[in-house]
Amino acid sequence: MGGGFRRGGAGRLGLGAMRLPGMPGRLPVDHTTAVAVARRAVQLGVTHIDTAAFYTRGTSRANEILRRALRPYPDGLTLATKIGPGQDVRAVVRQNLDELGLDVLDLVYLQSGRPDEPLAGRFAQLAELGEQGLVRGLGVADVTRAQFAEARAVAPVAAVQNRFGVLDQSDGALVDECAEADVTYVAHSALGGGRVRFTDGGLRKVALRHGATVYQVALAWGLMRSPTLVQIPGTASLTHLEQNMAAVRLKLDETDMTLLERLA
Ligand SMILES: NC(=O)c1ccc[n+]([C@@H]2O[C@H](COP(=O)([O-])OP(=O)(O)OC[C@H]3O[C@@H](n4cnc5c(N)ncnc54)[C@H](OP(=O)(O)O)[C@@H]3O)[C@@H](O)[C@H]2O)c1
Repeated sequence: MGGGFRRGGAGRLGLGAMRLPGMPGRLPVDHTTAVAVARRAVQLGVTHIDTAAFYTRGTSRANEILRRALRPYPDGLTLATKIGPGQDVRAVVRQNLDELGLDVLDLVYLQSGRPDEPLAGRFAQLAELGEQGLVRGLGVADVTRAQFAEARAVAPVAAVQNRFGVLDQSDGALVDECAEADVTYVAHSALGGGRVRFTDGGLRKVALRHGATVYQVALAWGLMRSPTLVQIPGTASLTHLEQNMAAVRLKLDETDMTLLERLA
């Protein structure tokens, strides 16, 4: 497993930084709050932060918020970033190094734009940057199982980042494949990307049983679903961050898991 990830306990609940600069259609996030959220995440045990040079809103940039909040970066923190579809692999790696103020990136995903997109050529470019010491762990994002296999034939894949959560379990086969291969599976949009309404009766039942919120149940489910699964809930709210991190202490039983597995 590359990237020096710590996957136990709170280390498997990370932070998605996409919302720190603010999102279209939502109230802007002030810089002080964004910096406070990043700092508090690390205090609460977050060791995996997901970012990208293209997570921007106006002049506010996720990478710059993280740099301002966390540099010098604590030991054991993985900052994962990504190269979007069609972006220049070398240029974007350079941009992320500059914006984050790093000499080497912990983990970089090559993001697929569509399920039939060939990835081998661009993944080989990323692997070359790994050999040059600029990138520690190589990842792929938004991929099919075939694309994952294609990338692995080029170079070892340290992590896969795909959409997965209690309300969208369609990528379960790849989650299991990653667990078998000891590859980190980073579930994005585990809370439905803010678009899914967490009103499902089964979720509410489990939440009531444990005196937890439905969001905490969703995250606790992910932690139990696979030992190599890391979740990166996105938030720009200190209250939500605290609630999300408390999900590490929520232990679901077999009955809960069976009920929740039926939701998808
Ligand atoms: N590879 C890809 O294609 C891809 C795509 C999308 C995202 N990502 C990554 O995945 C991360 C997570 O994605 P995401 O932010 O879209 O989706 P998400 O984590 O599923 O959901 C975030 C939404 O849930 C809300 N929320 C978070 N915690 C909450 C809580 N405890 N109670 C109530 N609401 C809560 C947030 O609002 P508040 O801000 O108000 O808390 C926000 O609207 C991103 O930050 C990004 O790093 C990757």
